[in-house]
Amino acid sequence: MDFNLSEEHLAVQAAARDFAQNELLSEVIERDNAQKFDPALIRKMGEQGFLGMMVSPEYGGSGMDTLSYVIAMEEISKVDASASVMMSVNNSLVCWGLEKYGSEEQKQKYLTRLAAGEIIGAFCLSEPEAGSDATSQHTTAADMGDHYLLNGTKNWITNGNSSSVCLVIAQTNPEKQHRGINALIVEKGLEGFVVGKKEDKMGIRASDTHTLMFTDVKVPKENRIAEDGFGFKFAMSTLNGGRIGIAAQALGIAAGAFELSLKYSKERKTFGRPISEHQAIQFKLSEMAVKIEAARLLVYKAARMKDEGKDYIQAAAMAKLYASDVAMWVTTEAVQVHGGYGYVKEYHVERLMRDAKITQIYEGTSEIQKLVIARELLK
Ligand code: CAA
Repeated sequence: MDFNLSEEHLAVQAAARDFAQNELLSEVIERDNAQKFDPALIRKMGEQGFLGMMVSPEYGGSGMDTLSYVIAMEEISKVDASASVMMSVNNSLVCWGLEKYGSEEQKQKYLTRLAAGEIIGAFCLSEPEAGSDATSQHTTAADMGDHYLLNGTKNWITNGNSSSVCLVIAQTNPEKQHRGINALIVEKGLEGFVVGKKEDKMGIRASDTHTLMFTDVKVPKENRIAEDGFGFKFAMSTLNGGRIGIAAQALGIAAGAFELSLKYSKERKTFGRPISEHQAIQFKLSEMAVKIEAARLLVYKAARMKDEGKDYIQAAAMAKLYASDVAMWVTTEAVQVHGGYGYVKEYHVERLMRDAKITQIYEGTSEIQKLVIARELLK
């Protein structure tokens, strides 16, 4: 087993670190407070190739492997998890799903622009009554011959307002249950497509999360992804890879909080010496480092398995389950290391702690990851 990163991977890491430090860090607290992401930053992320990392150059992407993507996700997430969730949804769910399952026309029309970051996408599966229980889709896509008539509501949609293209999962043939579900490419601006309420969230506050409503929206037939009834499989398959991205986000949040804690522990003095010289702090730093390293190995392993064309469903769920728990634990300890300073915004760790929580919830809660792992174990 080779645990070393290649020259290319190290270059991606350095580029993502530079971007995070030079472009994202200075106003991350202001964006969190304002609950707003700067569209100019999205454009810059696109120009740097962070929004279509795994898309082949033929469709305007960077043509990199999954390991490069998780390395970049980790670096961006150390600083700004709102930026990285937008990046993750665009890369893993929207671009990957379109490149893997879309038609040539769909790739030419949508993927090229998404990969370049000219536009960004959203992935619309969750509903008021279908979060974990994803087969219970109430949104309908009635087959009208040359188009689908889309009706329903999608909840907690990342990039809900800023996206130009949405991949919407909807039920066409209820009698076929999950095999009657379709995935449709739905453009913003279609009549009957309304962007609803923005969520006021605990964490990742600068990312825009909205309810989306569809009333008799006419979606052309050519916008269905793959064959009739493939929508649920499309969503599950796409989420398998998405979970590697969110695991990398969780890893980055944990690593960011750890780096801040390490630095702070050498600067802050109590009882006449830096707190890093107190065993109580050393124990915390050591445990943080071990957990982060273990999470990193799981995340990299899942990414490598995907790159090698192996079945990575279980590895992805394990990486997400473990890394998200590590993110929550490490960030809570990071606040503790910082004491009172950890509880105020200026020191970043309180935001990282708030941001960590969502990694145990989206793209399948921790409980769902356990079901996915058990499903694979018991196959
Ligand atoms: N990969 C590929 N296929 C899968 C799969 C997986 N991980 N899990 C299930 N399937 C397939 C099965 O093979 C089966 O197909 P066939 O019937 O053709 O054999 C079909 O899906 C149904 O499987 P189950 O009967 O096991 O389905 P279930 O109803 O028991 O649900 C589940 C399985 C794992 C719980 C699934 O519903 C699930 O993953 N739920 C969580 C959904 C989720 O992650 N939502 C997050 C929303 S997206 C988001 O958060 C994005 C964002 O904005 C950040």
